[in-house]
Amino acid sequence: MSMRLGFVIAGAVALAAVVGALVVRADEFTKEDLARWEAEFMTVVKQGRELWTSGDLGTNGVACAQCHPNAANTHPETYPKFQKQLGRVIAIRDMINWCIMNPLEGKALALDDRKMVALEAYVNHERRGVALAPGKH
Ligand code: HEC
Repeated sequence: MSMRLGFVIAGAVALAAVVGALVVRADEFTKEDLARWEAEFMTVVKQGRELWTSGDLGTNGVACAQCHPNAANTHPETYPKFQKQLGRVIAIRDMINWCIMNPLEGKALALDDRKMVALEAYVNHERRGVALAPGKH
C-alpha cells in the first residue's frame, strides 16, 4: 500500500469515528429534555389554535376556524402537492397564505414567521397519526 493511500484510509477511519461519536451524542437526551421539548411544542400548538380561532390574521374579521373547525379539511399530510389555486407543487404554508390573502383578505405571512410555524404546528397536531400521503388529492 502506498503511503498516500495509507493516510487517506487513516483519515477516513478517523472521520468515521468522529461522525459516529457525534451521532451517538445527538441521540442522548434526558427525560427532563423530553418534557421541556414537548411542553415547548404544545405551547406553539396552543398559539396556533389561538390564531386559528381569532379574526386577527386577515382584515375582515374572518377566522380560519369558520371554514376549517378543528383544522378540518386542511389535509396537512398531503403536502407538498399540486394545488390548482397556485398552479404548482406547494408546501402547506403556501396554502395557509392563500387562505390568509383570499377568504381573510389579509397580507401573506413571511414563510419563516413564527405565526406560520404555529399555524402549521396546530394543523399537524390536529392530524397527528394520519399516514403521510404527499401529493394525494
Ligand atoms: C371562507 C372559508 C375559508 C376560510 C375562512 C379559510 N379557508 Fe382555507 N380553504 C378554503 C377553501 C375553499 C379551500 C380550497 C379547498 C381545496 O381546493 O383544496 C381551502 C383550503 C385550505 C387548505 C388546503 C386544504 C387541502 O385539502 O389541501 C389549507 C391548509 C387551508 N385552507 C388553511 C386555511 C387557514 C390557515 C385559514 C385561516 C388563515 C383558512 N384556511 C381560512 C376556505 C376557507
